[in-house]
Amino acid sequence: MKAMRYRIKVGSLNDIPERLGKTVKIGPNEIAIFRLANGDIRAIENRCPHKGGVLAEGMVSGEYVYCPMHDWKINLKDGKVQAPDFGCIKTYETEIQNGEVIVIL
Ligand code: FES
Repeated sequence: MKAMRYRIKVGSLNDIPERLGKTVKIGPNEIAIFRLANGDIRAIENRCPHKGGVLAEGMVSGEYVYCPMHDWKINLKDGKVQAPDFGCIKTYETEIQNGEVIVIL
């Protein structure tokens, strides 16, 4: 059986500032949404695997976010922590439809 997928509107694209994160809560999931400099949207789990830093408050550079607590560098596309640190966080698919950002769970 195919797992059920949910498409959740999380707000207007214009409400997400470029290269800054926005926190959204969907049920028990806290998700950080980012708009990259090239206009792409990324959605990741909002919790650093190191000590729980809030990633939506991190600095975005290219395809990466830097955790605001101890500067771990995390790939926004696949959720992988970059060496010399290690670990992985969950990433979510996104879509933009009529100017609305949609996260697919
Ligand atoms: S909590 Fe994110 S780097 Fe330490």
